[in-house]
Amino acid sequence: MTMTQAKIRLAAIGDVHYTKASSGTWQQLFAQVAASADVLLLCGDIVDTGLPEEAWLFVRELTAAVKIPVLAVLGNHEHESGKPEEVQHIFADAGIITLDGEAREVYGIGFAGTKGFAGGFGEHALQAWGEEVLKRFVHEAVTETLKLESALAKLRTPQRIVLLHYAPIQATVACEPPEIFAFLGSSRLEEPLNRYPVTVVFHGHAHRGSPEGRTRGDVPVYNVAIPLLRRVFPEQPPFRLLEVPTDVAAPTPLMRLASPGHHSGAVGPPSQSSERKSHVAGGAEG
Ligand SMILES: [Fe+2]
Ligand SMILES: [Fe+2]
Repeated sequence: MTMTQAKIRLAAIGDVHYTKASSGTWQQLFAQVAASADVLLLCGDIVDTGLPEEAWLFVRELTAAVKIPVLAVLGNHEHESGKPEEVQHIFADAGIITLDGEAREVYGIGFAGTKGFAGGFGEHALQAWGEEVLKRFVHEAVTETLKLESALAKLRTPQRIVLLHYAPIQATVACEPPEIFAFLGSSRLEEPLNRYPVTVVFHGHAHRGSPEGRTRGDVPVYNVAIPLLRRVFPEQPPFRLLEVPTDVAAPTPLMRLASPGHHSGAVGPPSQSSERKSHVAGGAEG
């Protein structure tokens, strides 16, 4: 018996900024994602002001179209109303796996994610020195970096995909005003990316940044903030598609998003066998 290596198509987007007035306006994009990808990755700022109501409306519109596994990290906007846990809970009820320093395996591919934080890049990075408030600021970036590190340490898969909201390198914020670079990401987040074998990194947050960069270890980093993708690639739907090989022989999912009134079967890679076997590790199914 020969085992052909399957490919899983990842669609990554960031910064949807879904508002209470957004209903219906994302249908087309979500349908395009559903038609082109096997897994959707959401890189934070999914809702605009962090209100549970926005999260409800978002998952209703998403799950009406998208039945594939969805993994996410939160952004700073999910924190704006002081209810990030409630927002995450609504996402979880809809089947969205939010990574907050955790790792998950889907179709034999490893995913590690965390929100990240700011603080700047390279020799200009903010240091934990002086006032207590500055130390707390830097501490948040250090904590997020440790969360990313511990998530990556758990993965044993050949392919490891990283989701962040904040940028881990300066290259993907490069077209923003230099005055705000330090608020768009932190090169502390790059340290674990250089220590562990990582396939690709997706992040958002820098709406006016640059679409691609590379870590010092030559790992590709994609800024998938929708406003940026719309501007740089106006002819394409605003998400980044990437095919990743997997050794899982027949990656047909059981896991799918919960959608009121929808009970259709899961969508898997079209060329795969119809045998239903969950390859979502870590308790996503159930
Ligand atoms: Fe944003
Ligand atoms: Fe943001």
